Amino acid sequence: MIESAMRQEPVAPDGIFPGGSGRTNGSLISRTRNPYWMAPMSGITEAAFRQLMDEMGAGALVSDLVSAKGLIHGSGKTLGMVRVHANPIAPVGIQLFGESAEDIVEAARMIKDAGAEFIDINLGCPVNKVVKKGCGAALLRDPAKLETYLAKIKNGIDLPLTVKMRTGWNEKELTIHECVAAAHNAGCEWVAIHGRTRAQGYSGQADWDLIAKVKERARIPIVGNGDIRSAERARARLRETGVDAVMIGRGALRNPWIFMQCLETSAASAQARGGVESSGTLAARWPGNAPGRIGPAPIALDKHCSPSESSPLGPAVRWPGAMEILVRYRDLLREHYDSRRTLLMTRKLAVWMAYGYPGAAAFRGQAFQLHAIADLFDCAARFFDHAERFPPPRFDESESFMMGGHG
Ligand SMILES: Cc1cc2nc3c(=O)[nH]c(=O)nc-3n(C[C@H](O)[C@H](O)[C@H](O)COP(=O)(O)O)c2cc1C
Repeated sequence: MIESAMRQEPVAPDGIFPGGSGRTNGSLISRTRNPYWMAPMSGITEAAFRQLMDEMGAGALVSDLVSAKGLIHGSGKTLGMVRVHANPIAPVGIQLFGESAEDIVEAARMIKDAGAEFIDINLGCPVNKVVKKGCGAALLRDPAKLETYLAKIKNGIDLPLTVKMRTGWNEKELTIHECVAAAHNAGCEWVAIHGRTRAQGYSGQADWDLIAKVKERARIPIVGNGDIRSAERARARLRETGVDAVMIGRGALRNPWIFMQCLETSAASAQARGGVESSGTLAARWPGNAPGRIGPAPIALDKHCSPSESSPLGPAVRWPGAMEILVRYRDLLREHYDSRRTLLMTRKLAVWMAYGYPGAAAFRGQAFQLHAIADLFDCAARFFDHAERFPPPRFDESESFMMGGHG
């Protein structure tokens, strides 16, 4: 009941959605759950992780990039990448790349059958193998050609179309304004912008001043992205730049509670203005009155991550602890993968979550020596039990962390 209501309209507290352009009834963006979205990350944001982040409060979810050709030619691995979990709360999009619009159109049909709600086109991938084929960020070099390419796709598919791009090829070719106009003319629903050029890779800082300028001129919803590592910063970016939503990538790996924290901050300010709160689906997944705690060990980090009694998210939402998140992720992974892949991916998340706590390097070393998931959980339980005594580490914007990826 709550879930179906949440899918029909933005249920975020009043004032959570700051932007507004294009947020008409029935538009894709009006069906998103809140303005704090999970960014696509290759090798990470597959179906199980997307479901986990859906359960942790993300407002929209996008898959990692999938080759349209790979999908058409039906490799089992590629087909697995477009799987969508049952009954998603936030809209799920599948991100494609491909040189030919025809390939994308054909792949989009398969994606619709898999249950995705929209198709996202990757215009940000800086990787040589991709740009050499004229895909990813290479498409930003010729906005007129980009418009034709996107319009062809749009005309050939019946799912909503979105794009994610960088600010340009390099600082001399900052084509972002023209590319955003091209996306608008082609009928896209929004443009997500990672505020770096292709040449920058992941160095320097995302240019949020430029994102704000793009938002000012754009006639299409703009989603800002880059270097958001705390709920406070997410909220500030929304407020200061006027973007319609923000995407969070690496920040959610070290802090999977970030979307709940964003909602709590937002709900707090909405509550102060007499707005409503939006924690219904979170409470359904993590009910406050759950009998005991699941997981093989005491759940750590609750102390630092749970909202207080007077929290705007309400006592009905019990924030999951680190071990509980790992258990849930392992169980979701098991639905899709064999035990080796399940171990590999659970271990990665455990190591990201441990990052910055005293003893994290030793934990990482130990975790990579373990080959049985039960041993990994024992080791992680000991680590997070110990970590509970320390305040959560700061994850500063200037700190280097995972400086490579496809967008
Ligand atoms: C490991 C990794 C993989 C990524 N894969 C993709 C991808 O498949 N598609 C995409 O559009 N962006 C991809 N990105 C870029 C992110 O979506 C995001 O734009 C970038 O990390 C900046 O945001 P952040 O600072 O919040 O992480 C990737 C980033 C990383 C770190």
